[in-house]
Parts: sequence; C-alpha cells; structure tokens
Amino acid sequence: MKPVNVGIIGFGTVGAGTVELLLANKEIITNRTGTDIIIKKIADLDIESDRGVSVDRSLMTTNAMDVINDPDIDVIVELIGGLTKAREVVTGALKNKKHVVTANKALLAEYGKELYETAFNNGVSLSFEASVCGAVPIIGALKNGLAPNRISVIKGILNGTSNYILTRMTKEGLTYDQVVQKAVEMGFAEDPPTLDVNGTDTVHKLTILISLLLGYPVALQSIYREGIVNLTPDDIRFADEFGYRVKLLAVARQRDNGIEARVHPAMIPKDSILARVDDEFNAIYLEGDFVGPSLFYGLGAGRRPTASAVVSDIMGIARAMRLGYRGFMPPLSHFSLQKEVAIHSMKDLHSAYYFRFSAFDSPGVLSMIAGILGEHDISISSVIQKGREQNSSVPIVMLTHEAREKNVIEAVSKINRLDIVSGPTVMVRVEED
Ligand code: HSE
Repeated sequence: MKPVNVGIIGFGTVGAGTVELLLANKEIITNRTGTDIIIKKIADLDIESDRGVSVDRSLMTTNAMDVINDPDIDVIVELIGGLTKAREVVTGALKNKKHVVTANKALLAEYGKELYETAFNNGVSLSFEASVCGAVPIIGALKNGLAPNRISVIKGILNGTSNYILTRMTKEGLTYDQVVQKAVEMGFAEDPPTLDVNGTDTVHKLTILISLLLGYPVALQSIYREGIVNLTPDDIRFADEFGYRVKLLAVARQRDNGIEARVHPAMIPKDSILARVDDEFNAIYLEGDFVGPSLFYGLGAGRRPTASAVVSDIMGIARAMRLGYRGFMPPLSHFSLQKEVAIHSMKDLHSAYYFRFSAFDSPGVLSMIAGILGEHDISISSVIQKGREQNSSVPIVMLTHEAREKNVIEAVSKINRLDIVSGPTVMVRVEED
C-alpha cells in the first residue's frame, strides 16, 4: 500500500507535537488508517533549535515552497499561524492539489470563503479540527455525528486563557492584572494576551462553527465582540451573590428570522454545566432537534491536545486516500450553497442585565437611576448597595428582567451623564439556561 506523505510547515509547539504524535503512536495510527503516514519534509525559519523530538536533518528546510512544490507530498500541514504567509502557503498547496490541514482559526475566519472555494475547485480536502478548541472534536462532530440535526443553540467557552483568568479571579479574588501577570510568568498566557482577552480568538472560533452550521462562510465582522478586560473582582463577587459565575461566552442561537451571534462576558447560573468549566478548559454546549442537549469538553490548546486534532485530520485524509476516494467533502460539509441567514443586530437582543453603577451615596440617587431604567422599559429584579463613604462613590448593583439591548444602551448612556455618577457603568449580560 502506497504511504501517505506529509509535509509540515511551521515547526513550533504544535508542529513538534504533531511529529511527536505521528512517531509515538505510529502503530495505532497505521492500524486505524490502513496506511503508513510518512513525514517527508518539515519547513521552519529556525531549523536549529531542539524541539524535543528527533527528526532527520535531511527532512528540514527553511523554504516553505520546497514543501508545497514537492510532487511526492500528498498532505500539507500549515502550522505557521498568522495571516499573510499562511494564506500564501495554504492557497499554493491547494492549487498544487495537495490536501491541507490547518490549525489556523484566524486564517479561516478572515479568508475562509476563498480558501474553501479553492479547496473544492481543486478537488482536495481542507481540514481544520485543531482550529476550534484544540483537542475537543467539535468540528468532526458537527460534520459527522451531529450532521442530521438542526442545531438551535451553541454556547461555548472557547478560549482557555480568558477562562483561566476568570477562574483565578473568581477563586482567588485577584484582579485581572494580577492574574494576567501570574499567567504570563508561568507561561500560560501570551504577553500581552490581547487577542485572547478581547474576544477576537473566540470570535474566530465562533465564525468557523457558525459557518459549519449554515454551510457558507459567515463574515467575521458580523459577530459582536466584547472582551473581559473591564471586569473587576467586585463584579465577580456580586455575580456570586446573585448566584452566577462570569464566563467569556460565545453564543449562536437560531431565531425565527435569523441568528444571534455574539461573544461577550456573561453571567451564567452557578449550577449550569458551563459554570463548572474552569481554568484553561474549553466546553461547547449545544442543542440539536434530535440529539437534544450535548456537551463537548476538553483542552483547547497546548502541544499535545492540538497535535491530536491535527493528526486526526491527517488520518481522515489518509483513510480516504487508502480507500481510493475520488472526491473529498467540501470544507464546510454542505454540497449546495445555502441561502444566507441574517445575523441579528445586538440592539435587538433581549437579555437580562447586570449593572454596576458608580454613584455618590446621597438621597434620591437610587430613584434617579431606577427612573431612567423605568423610562426605557427596563424592569429591575434585584438591587445591592453596600458601604457608605463620605464624598466618595459606592457601587450600586442591579439585576434586571429581560430587556431590549437598544433600550439598555440608551438608558446607560443617560445614567453615565448624571452628575451623581462618578464613572462608567459596567454592564454584563445574564445568560439563563
Ligand atoms: N489562545 C487560545 C486559548 C488557544 O487560550 O484558548 C488557541 O486558540
């Protein structure tokens, strides 16, 4: 049986993990694909550093084009990350009729449309299990196990770095800055972890998931994004008093005339499944019309978990080649173009809200704030006001019943302009089960 030859472009953490796994579990992998998978070439700008795996020097090159243009290579694994070079590498490989495996969520979220089309038009596979939540096999599940279902809702904790930060803020009462500093020192977080904490990484992943659900590449810009940087230990403590945990949540929900697609911090009931997903773990909760509720949980990053997802994609291609398939699934696993579905404007969202107002503690303040909320059809369900400090502000914390986001934005902007208010209001959406 002819082996399947693989070229790896990008020999960093995940590239080295991929080589390690292909070597360490060779027997299992060969048994489960029915063919040998051979590493034919590895490209990286740095071919000197030790990656903790033994690789024949003759396989290494500093030129990615050597890999893409090698006629013996069947599968290109793109692990360089970033956009410009990765786009060039993936497009070049697909046009050379090589199957591509990538972990690059930013690339797919930005340039998915052209890359999916290039793969399909060239009759090759573009696989990306590792792009969303590393080892959690959600891409395969949506393409295969869950394929016959209408999925009505997806709620996910898709970023391990933010989840780690929020968990430590919750459990240790630390500030955002204190946790980030510790996480960077321990090597858990990038320095600074901007794309993780501002919600961009989560939006990339949600873009890919929604594209798979709908069968066409949705525009990344259509997904609302808000990060975790403005949350304080106070907010997390008040959430706890109200019975909630704070998580950076990705939500996609089918509505009658479109879908909601949003990424933002959310308060979720303490006893909900997602509230118990802590530290660097990722989880995706979804509901399908026939499967009902399902939960996917695991590690979303790191050398070995991400390598596992990359190698599973290589194995899928190797199996298909072994069986002599003449065609490959379109990357989004839909054969006909779907009609585009409207993504709701956030202004039309209906949600309950948490507010923390910073206001001077004097007579009439509470009624002034409550009055503005009332004028905007926002009904209060609970209030906490603690502490009294002369000439300084105190937090006034409220939970609301369900309200329209457009009204909330207007009310908060009016409240922020009051003289009795000393700083911007913190607003967090409450996501009940
Ligand atoms: N940086 C991401 C995270 C993993 O913290 O989950 C890669 O997307």
